[in-house]
Amino acid sequence: MTAVPPFLWGAATAGHQVEGNNINADIWLLEQVEDTPFAEPSGDACDSLNRWADDIAMIESLGLNAYRFSVEWSRIEPAPGQFSEAWLDHYARIVAICRKAGIAPVVTLSHFTSPRWFAAAGGWGQGDAPGLFARFADRTAQRLGAFASHVITFNEPNLPLMGRWNATPLADPGRTGLDAMLAAAARKSGTDRFDVWVYSDGPGDRLDNLLAGHRMARAAWKARYPATPVGLSLALPDVQPVGGEAGIAAYRRHAEDPFFAAARDDDFIGVQTYGRMLIGAKAVLPPPKDAERTESGDEYYPQALGNAAAHAHRQTGKPVLVTENGIAAADDAQRARYIPAAIASLDAVRAEGIPVLGYIHWSLMDNFEWRRGYSQHFGLVSVDRRNFRRTFKPSAQVYAKLVRARG
Ligand code: BGC
Repeated sequence: MTAVPPFLWGAATAGHQVEGNNINADIWLLEQVEDTPFAEPSGDACDSLNRWADDIAMIESLGLNAYRFSVEWSRIEPAPGQFSEAWLDHYARIVAICRKAGIAPVVTLSHFTSPRWFAAAGGWGQGDAPGLFARFADRTAQRLGAFASHVITFNEPNLPLMGRWNATPLADPGRTGLDAMLAAAARKSGTDRFDVWVYSDGPGDRLDNLLAGHRMARAAWKARYPATPVGLSLALPDVQPVGGEAGIAAYRRHAEDPFFAAARDDDFIGVQTYGRMLIGAKAVLPPPKDAERTESGDEYYPQALGNAAAHAHRQTGKPVLVTENGIAAADDAQRARYIPAAIASLDAVRAEGIPVLGYIHWSLMDNFEWRRGYSQHFGLVSVDRRNFRRTFKPSAQVYAKLVRARG
């Protein structure tokens, strides 16, 4: 009989958001172009490039048993076909040290960033994108595979589709700024198309390539380490219909179904839930007027997690790994309330028989929140921007205590 693996209790980061100086990544360039919509550049981020061992030590001291982080493709393969042994070593050390500390390393291969050369060649719009990604996955598996506990090929590949289900491109007032940013990055790179899928104007030919990239990367990893669970992580708000089901059906067709279909051959489905989304016939509706808000202006709605997890399992038949859940909170007391409430909603669906492999909180620490820069506080740990000193917040202790209480 095979032993049942322990429930994973973890915290997550992503390379570009914490490492710092990710200068060969496509998004680094987007932060630098003239009139960029990014509030500020990522710069040194949390200096996790140098402080990664401290980060793992924090996970350990909280009594967690999983750390989700991403490897940066642009470091591992700084030019097409040129692989950096030194950077592969760097990430191999991270997974090895995690294991030594009894921490399961959950490795993300693509957390929004790609190498600058990949974007300048057409990104996920180019025909050989899946093969390029699979080659990178293969090299990473070769070096990290013996230690990785779970592999996530893509972080939220459905994200660009979430606002594109209702055929109203004007729904995104920021679109013009994004197009100008991508055009400026193309000029800087001497190409006519700088393609970064997460800021793209829709799926186009990218969707098939992304899904093929997922399948091929999974196959590459499995060819070396067949027993390692591989999956993808989806942005899954608890979507709730308002005034009829037509809108929600269109939403699910665009932003969920192709990805759930892709996950049916995976080992788990990665669920990332921050709150709920109210969907009318043609548009996403604002939260109720009296709703409590988070720092990012979203509705405070921790109980979304259980519903989203149950839905993901029912659609795929796969066990759920909660790979992100959290809130931006200027007042940490709000996060301290959020964590037990979100986990209680997960407990409720587990009690109904939904299989859940683990809960990984976003994020271990305050970090670079993409276009919003450093203004959003998702961390269990605060980071002093002058000296990168890390300090646990009270919510980290709330989480640690809850995990300890469950043995
Ligand atoms: C992403 C993270 C991001 C978080 C909070 C998720 O969509 O995977 O990179 O920081 O949400 O916005």
